[in-house]
Amino acid sequence: MALLNILHYPDPRLRQQAEAVSGVGAAEKKLVADMFETMYAAPGIGLAAVQVNVPQRIIVIDVSEDQSQPLCFINPEIIRRDGEEQMEEGCLSVPGVYEPVTRYESIRVKALDRDGRPFELDADGILSVCIQHEIDHLDGKLFVDYLSEMKRSRIRKKLEKLKRQTL
Ligand code: NI
Repeated sequence: MALLNILHYPDPRLRQQAEAVSGVGAAEKKLVADMFETMYAAPGIGLAAVQVNVPQRIIVIDVSEDQSQPLCFINPEIIRRDGEEQMEEGCLSVPGVYEPVTRYESIRVKALDRDGRPFELDADGILSVCIQHEIDHLDGKLFVDYLSEMKRSRIRKKLEKLKRQTL
């Protein structure tokens, strides 16, 4: 396995539209394993392939505290949406920034697992929020897009300054 490099906002590659995965073979399985390793090492609770510059519809999530509930969604699709809730979100591509975002409270999602087998899952709470956040990444969308232009521009400046300091 290998640690992958996570792109940081405002890198334009985070705006890539991910393509559907046509088959789950050795390359996809290796990518999923590397994505889990990268997410756990960060540490984070969700990672989309677009964030590691692979524009394919693959996300990994684990919202447990002890890395005991790894979930992989390939070609995820939300097939039911209910309610509304606001939760503070962060993102491995927007380090150090946490802001409240309003999303659906509960969802049903359909996807392929890491072996290419279809499954459906009902999610609410943090898992529901995390799935919606990661699916947004596959469409080139970031949680900061839900914030005001003023807040977003402040975040962009902060991260650009951080990047200059670390180069
Ligand atoms: Ni994110």
